[in-house]
Amino acid sequence: MTFNSLAGHWAEVQARRISDLFEDPDRADRFSTSAAEMLFDWSKTALDDKAVDLLLALAKDAGLEDRREAMFSGEKINETEGRAVLHTALRASTARKVFVDGEDVIPEVHKTLKRMRDFSSRLRSGQIRTPTGGRYTDVVNIGIGGSDLGPAMAVQALAPYHDGPKVHFVSNVDGAHIHDTLKGLNPANTLVIVASKTFTTIETMTNAKFARDWIAREVGEEAAGHQLVALSSNEEKTTEWGVSPERVFGFEDWVGGRYSMWGPIGLSLMIAIGANRFDEMLDGARAMDTHFRSAKGRENLPLMLALVGIWHHQICGYATRAVLPYEQRLARLPAYLQQLEMESNGKRVGMDGAALETVSGPVVWGEPGTNGQHAFYQLIHQGTAIVPCEFMVAKEGHEPDLAHQHRLLVANCLAQSQALMLGRSMEEAEARMAAAGFEGEERTRQAAHCVFPGNRPSTTLVYPKLTPRIFGQIVALYEHRVFVEGVVLGINSYDQWGVELGKELAVALEPVMAGDVSVDGLDGSTQQLVKHLT
Ligand code: F6P
Repeated sequence: MTFNSLAGHWAEVQARRISDLFEDPDRADRFSTSAAEMLFDWSKTALDDKAVDLLLALAKDAGLEDRREAMFSGEKINETEGRAVLHTALRASTARKVFVDGEDVIPEVHKTLKRMRDFSSRLRSGQIRTPTGGRYTDVVNIGIGGSDLGPAMAVQALAPYHDGPKVHFVSNVDGAHIHDTLKGLNPANTLVIVASKTFTTIETMTNAKFARDWIAREVGEEAAGHQLVALSSNEEKTTEWGVSPERVFGFEDWVGGRYSMWGPIGLSLMIAIGANRFDEMLDGARAMDTHFRSAKGRENLPLMLALVGIWHHQICGYATRAVLPYEQRLARLPAYLQQLEMESNGKRVGMDGAALETVSGPVVWGEPGTNGQHAFYQLIHQGTAIVPCEFMVAKEGHEPDLAHQHRLLVANCLAQSQALMLGRSMEEAEARMAAAGFEGEERTRQAAHCVFPGNRPSTTLVYPKLTPRIFGQIVALYEHRVFVEGVVLGINSYDQWGVELGKELAVALEPVMAGDVSVDGLDGSTQQLVKHLT
């Protein structure tokens, strides 16, 4: 099966309106997937049975099932780096065995989880004291990309369960970030977690050094060392940094940075919500893993989420995808998904190194509703670019006394997908203008501005309540979506060479900025910018 057959089908059905597809009274049910504890309604898209069959065949022909088994069982599917891809092992039960290079990795995963549990519960209960005998009131996680976005998103998402010390996140090398975060914190009561898989990332190491010095100025060099924790797979570097081994939580190279919040990189979250809640999150993710591994065809939620995405981006040619959680606490989900999806699937060559025959992953963006409605939804409804919208909403909020607000939130979410699909015709717009007293040409002119073309696709993911378990399901769902898309495109979703060139050039430019190296030899624009900035 090829992309061409799908493109041919799209050309045939393109003129048809999505709303007309609901002449099939069972469409909503047949073009939805219920799995784990969620409902994914993809009926408000142009997909019909033939398109779904073609997409399923595309995934099958790409070898999805074998590839999926290869991932779960620890084969080295990250072929450019020669690594297994085993974030699923971080949430696997002790009953499972997963071998990498002949060794079962699950016992070590659980040993580390146990160390994290012990550490976080002793910190939360006050058993772990500061070097000066006080109680830790604040935790600062210093990391960037995958060592920041996951836990930062999760701490915000699970705020109703946050009963541990305050947790802060510093990622940007812009000094403003660490300055504003540390301002108001007491260095004597602050635990600094340095989260970096490689322990070489310049932003993180620069910020970590600043934080260590900030503490040392208050409590002295030696004591400052006791206020540091390292989350890393680079034992050599954490030792060089002088972090004592019992404060190092390690993980293997088969955990990709953007897939790492389930293990040590999630320590700040575990400190915030406690080990039991963290376990619930892992349980949720595990339920999604089991589902993804076993559900067939249309019943498979991550598969369908991925295929809908492929349909919209690779087949219909819509350049971007908006993720619109009607859940304020998922405010960081779009940023998290930008890394997850764009760092994974923003590639230009296939696994074999040959140029891709189709476009790679889409631009992902978004904001929580209803805020976005008062900003960029104008373009979504009436702009000339079509943006497939992925709505998400909970049946229930965490605040029973704010049930009215929640109803309004849900009503807004549903109204948006309705408006996108149904639109408003010129005739309807003219009738409104007539009722408002406009006549003749002016009525037509005014009406033209109030036409909504409609026929714009969207999906809606409904979940019961944003508990740790559901949150785990949602994140795992997106991870698996990225996996499916990568397999269908034939790319390696687990390397990220595209971030390297800029890093190398930044290292070379820093001494130029400092005036230690001449600007000669740089391109004219960069020379000019350096001169203006120094
Ligand atoms: O620069 C990209 C990247 O390598 C991401 O893939 C990663 O999540 C992030 O940097 C941080 O890396 P580390 O955890 O090694 O500091």
